[in-house]
Amino acid sequence: MPRLDLLIAHNLGFSRGVVTRLCRQGRVSTPEGAPLRDPALQIPPAGLPMAIQLDDAPHTLYLRYHLLQHKPLGVVTALRDDRHATAYDLLKSAPLHKDLRAAGRLDLETSGLLLWTTEGPLLHRMTHPRYAVPRVYQAALRGSWQPPPPGFALDDGHVPEIAELKPLAREDAHPGLDVPFGTTTLASITIIGGKFHEVRRIFAGLGSEVLGLCRVSYGPLVLPTTLAAGQYLELDLHSVFAGMHPRPRGGPEAADDGASDDVIVDELPEEADA
Ligand code: URA
Repeated sequence: MPRLDLLIAHNLGFSRGVVTRLCRQGRVSTPEGAPLRDPALQIPPAGLPMAIQLDDAPHTLYLRYHLLQHKPLGVVTALRDDRHATAYDLLKSAPLHKDLRAAGRLDLETSGLLLWTTEGPLLHRMTHPRYAVPRVYQAALRGSWQPPPPGFALDDGHVPEIAELKPLAREDAHPGLDVPFGTTTLASITIIGGKFHEVRRIFAGLGSEVLGLCRVSYGPLVLPTTLAAGQYLELDLHSVFAGMHPRPRGGPEAADDGASDDVIVDELPEEADA
């Protein structure tokens, strides 16, 4: 069970020493005003997230946090970037912001559903090809596409796993899909995997050019049409992904190196101190 001092330090960015002093001075209390003087107080999982007051200001303490973001066009998925704004910058108000990592990288000019979590093992499960999480993209295309021929491979030899590829009616397009001038057709594509520019390269290989791209679902999660670009909502990714099982070895990813380009591997968060 996490300790009160660790939770406060983790959520509010104080050192343990400072938190100990705050507790002992009676400056940390329950929302009802009862002082929480013991920094080593164990907080049961059922008590989280936990509301406290610090010097009469309300705070909520989280052990973990997950969210679903509608990534807008024109921002990169990286945590830092010298040239562009980042999707991460748009989450500054989120709890545990410094520990959030994205599951799946979307290009600068791709919008749509981007999941974030503070938990490294869950991130691994959501992105590793063995868990075969399907991703659905809607694409605005210039030129019509051919159905993938048998053994269809990309320019680097990667064989994409295309679960579904079909035309998309204009009225079924997500409001987050950019449909620029020059678009001649819309398509919906479901792929398993997350190689670099995979959808753009698939359509290039099938004879058309992606002008607009929006990820509309990831596993069972769908980008709500009411969630504006740049906005996010809190959700419990554990209940969605923790029960997933990997595909048996020797599946389609065995022909590849098994690696996904989908996850930002630098600075994966450790499991929160529990
Ligand atoms: N495939 C792409 O080509 N771009 C993305 O952003 C995601 C998948």
